Amino acid sequence: MSFSNAIKPVRKAVFPVAGLGTRFLPATKVMPKEMLPLVDRPLIQHAIDEARDAGIEEFIFITGRAKEMLETHFDHQPELMETLEKRGKHDLLEKVKATALPEGSLFLTRQAKPLGLGHAIWCARKLVGNEPFAILLPDDVVLAKKGCLSQMIETYNEIGGNIVGVMDVPREQTASYGILDIKTDDGKLVDIKGLVEKPKPEDAPSTLSVIGRYILQPEVFDHLASFEKGAGGEIQITDAMAKLIGKQPFHGLRYEGQRYDCGSRLGFIEANIAFGMEDPEIGKQVRDLVKRFAA
Ligand code: UTP
Repeated sequence: MSFSNAIKPVRKAVFPVAGLGTRFLPATKVMPKEMLPLVDRPLIQHAIDEARDAGIEEFIFITGRAKEMLETHFDHQPELMETLEKRGKHDLLEKVKATALPEGSLFLTRQAKPLGLGHAIWCARKLVGNEPFAILLPDDVVLAKKGCLSQMIETYNEIGGNIVGVMDVPREQTASYGILDIKTDDGKLVDIKGLVEKPKPEDAPSTLSVIGRYILQPEVFDHLASFEKGAGGEIQITDAMAKLIGKQPFHGLRYEGQRYDCGSRLGFIEANIAFGMEDPEIGKQVRDLVKRFAA
């Protein structure tokens, strides 16, 4: 496939949710990691809301064994809604209603075995088709005034191509991330000349890392189809993205906001405190609580 210069709009978002969530065992033995609550919404709901705010129209889940709860969360629940209505719990009713997606906008496919993020994305190839698409990893949560994906789509609508959300990490942590090899950097937008998955600190070409937000062109599926195993013996999205560089524009965007790794216990606790402090109902109490702990 050759790359066309026309900027096609991003209408679809892929949510890979078929991972095992081993870092959260035993909590994730039965419950999907993406259903863990961040304040009062499960992680998957935060990701869907961010995508919806960014104008996404089609939501594609890559789900797997024992992950059914993720789709039922977005179902209508008439009995619950009736009960809340009868009891006059209108604010709760509004929160429940806000979980619903427009009918026919949620698409599901399954990854039979969790062979890696790249493989999960490849499973969405038929549902994405020949158009650009976003990927949101629900365990990466960004606290921001304007949603991270909205910021990325704004930039995409100006420059097109492929864009990943990026942040600086301490050098000793590069082995946990996909790391950028930088061509040029204006402080916000980075022109990328290479990508390396989980390099050792001494081998990392920079300390700028990819977070779980991507806008990619459909040609990435051609590279995913080779099922090449990368870091950790998994099929990595980073390796397929790296093959697009040089053929298509590829940028990193330093988004405004704070990212939390809710796939790790510490990141999850940190995120609950940060989001809790911003919560319109309990924010003040959470801030007081944090002060009490610090004292
Ligand atoms: P992670 O590597 O953070 O998730 O993948 P994991 O493998 O579930 O967690 P740990 O490391 O064992 O604790 C990021 C996202 O990609 C999905 C996960 O569900 C998560 O949302 N994923 C990962 C898949 O859908 N399939 C895979 O094969 C791997």
